[in-house]
Amino acid sequence: MKAVLEHKSYRYESQQAVIDEIDALAEQLDQKHPLERKVRFLLDIRGYLYLNRICGNYIEFGSFKSEMQYAAFKILDGTGAITAYLGLDIFTGEPDLNPHEATAMPVTASGDFSCDFEQVQQFVQQNMAGKGELIRGDFREKTLLQKCDAFAPFNIAVIDCNLLSSLEVATRYALQNLTDGGLLFFDDYFTNFGQGVPRIPRMVQRLAAVSGRKLLEHGFYPPFAKSFIVCSE
Ligand SMILES: C[S@@+](CC[C@H](N)C(=O)[O-])C[C@H]1O[C@@H](n2cnc3c(N)ncnc32)[C@H](O)[C@@H]1O
Repeated sequence: MKAVLEHKSYRYESQQAVIDEIDALAEQLDQKHPLERKVRFLLDIRGYLYLNRICGNYIEFGSFKSEMQYAAFKILDGTGAITAYLGLDIFTGEPDLNPHEATAMPVTASGDFSCDFEQVQQFVQQNMAGKGELIRGDFREKTLLQKCDAFAPFNIAVIDCNLLSSLEVATRYALQNLTDGGLLFFDDYFTNFGQGVPRIPRMVQRLAAVSGRKLLEHGFYPPFAKSFIVCSE
């Protein structure tokens, strides 16, 4: 309230003072780390999982260097609600984009996010108390996705894989394998808007309808991410 009152009687002492204040505010409010929105989400769901005993395993489609996967373990393990933290990635970088995908996601290129599988595996083995798991390969292949079934049901599914075809496969699998009350986090909800087309929101609503799941609004984590609680109809 104080800030509002002060703003109303805005004193133009010097334009430079105004500029300095705004610059400092923008700096203060700006994202400090690329994982900030993901860590915020994990902190936001910790009490919810614990209090409601929403149990299952964690799955992340597009785990890259396992940084969010590690953050999930670090933040959520104390809830006792999760046994395994599963990360899926191809590790050779984004697969080839077809022309439709390239239009939807103009700044993504095939080969982005390539990283060394052995190094990531070592990181996971050394820092996640034996609860971290990786599945390497293109999860659009049925046989690869079937390997995840051994970890189902999931209480958290993170969808962070940029390409429309990857997002569609991951979302369908997540909707079929999340426990009631489980959380669906899309890092990519407001990406793939090339030419202003809301492709991901449309795809998510369509797949929820065919899977017979309801999506309850949960959180918005700017600039791209959104989360939902998934329930049965
Ligand atoms: C934005 S990065 C993931 C970042 C990571 N979640 C984090 O928080 O650090 C997207 C990843 O999705 C992976 N990816 C995209 N499509 C894939 C597919 N069909 N199969 C396996 N990995 C895929 C890419 O290789 C890339 O590493």
